[in-house]
Amino acid sequence: MKALKIQGGKELKGTIRISGAKNSSVALIPAAILSDDVVTICNVPEITDIDALSDILEYLKADVKRASESIVIDPKTSINRPIPTNMAQKLRASYYFMGALLGKYKHVEMSFPGGCSIGARPINLHLKGFEALGAKITQNDNVYIVDAEELKGANIYLDIASVGATINIMLAAVKAKGTTIIDNAAKEPEIVNVATFLNNMGARITGAGTSEIRIKGVDKLNGCFHEVIPDRIEAGTYMIIAALAGNNVKIDNIIPEHLEALTSKLAEIGVPIEMGMDYVIIKKPQSYKPVNIKTLVFPGFPTDLQQPFSVLLTQCNGKSTIEETIYENRFMHVPELEKMGANIKVSGTKATVYGPTKLSGSTVTATDLRAGAAMVCAALIAESGEETIITNAEHILRGYESIVEKLSDIGAKIRIIEI
Ligand code: EPU
Repeated sequence: MKALKIQGGKELKGTIRISGAKNSSVALIPAAILSDDVVTICNVPEITDIDALSDILEYLKADVKRASESIVIDPKTSINRPIPTNMAQKLRASYYFMGALLGKYKHVEMSFPGGCSIGARPINLHLKGFEALGAKITQNDNVYIVDAEELKGANIYLDIASVGATINIMLAAVKAKGTTIIDNAAKEPEIVNVATFLNNMGARITGAGTSEIRIKGVDKLNGCFHEVIPDRIEAGTYMIIAALAGNNVKIDNIIPEHLEALTSKLAEIGVPIEMGMDYVIIKKPQSYKPVNIKTLVFPGFPTDLQQPFSVLLTQCNGKSTIEETIYENRFMHVPELEKMGANIKVSGTKATVYGPTKLSGSTVTATDLRAGAAMVCAALIAESGEETIITNAEHILRGYESIVEKLSDIGAKIRIIEI
């Protein structure tokens, strides 16, 4: 098992360059199998979730070549076969093979996906979308067999603006006969990035980034070249770290419009921020005012930053509140933060953070990816010189490219150890 060993109290200074977005890349790689020719995707982060998806592509006999930040996928040799449960359950995003294989072969067999334990996370809306397109679904234990003689465009209303269901329905509908309309679609930037990729291959998708997406089915998808957008959650995590432990930290290669909910909350706290076209510089605040946050779908405050942000709230002068509206169980990091000295009361999907509290070095666990990011934030501000060991660091490495190198470069004392 891997762990991160971090010494607290170091002032951070310098530049961090943001990698390509995990939650775009994890959809683009399965989507590539829809193409009839070679696709090149650049700015793909080197994280273990990408390795797991590449393994599935290779299992399906697609040719996958990784060259630094790019992945070249040749799906001409690919075949359709059931995806083994252990491969599907390594991560959440394996579910994008459901839409992609259904769209390409009209048949897919795979089990319920894995991923962070932050709530029930059913896939009923994905399946409802596939059924509306004409697929029949059989479930044997945890394995779904999704089969269609023909996929036909349909009007699909999503009860929840789900990121995964929106993308999966786009993947299944892109080669269907006729037009599909997804109503109450999710509007996250990753959805726009995936729609652009499919359009680069010859798909006809309009409205991505709004709540109504229209997909006119096409017969063939060509090869293309595509670039992954910068990771707004990685950027947000480092902005929070900079606000906590930095003095003039530049977060480079970002799309500032994707981070507005976070920047406005940082400003409300009193963190001085200098905005550039594709960067932000976070300066040292005089003091931290308490604030209230509520997680919402884009462009609201992202649930994926709620856990790291809660560490910033432990340093605010007074009572702050958090309302988590996307997941039922995204406070698993709180008992770990309490071990370090935080004072947080959780009640259902709400939490109250009483600050400021000093945090001390401790041995804590990364219970999930963003909980792990929260523990990194906390460890960096632990009392001067005190050491924190974060176990289960594999969770963190699933989503943050070169986190040890990036933080070391700006002055953090952090290393990875085997335990
Ligand atoms: N939901 C349903 N039924 C469905 C689909 C979703 O009830 O069929 C519910 C979920 O249980 C959840 C809510 O709808 O309560 C939102 O889920 P959504 O489908 O939007 O999330 P997701 O596609 O499973 C992606 C990201 C998450 C991120 C969410 C929200 C990937 C692989 N995952 O998950 O990222 O939190 O969108 O923005 O793209 C992370 O990166 O740490 C992470 C968890």
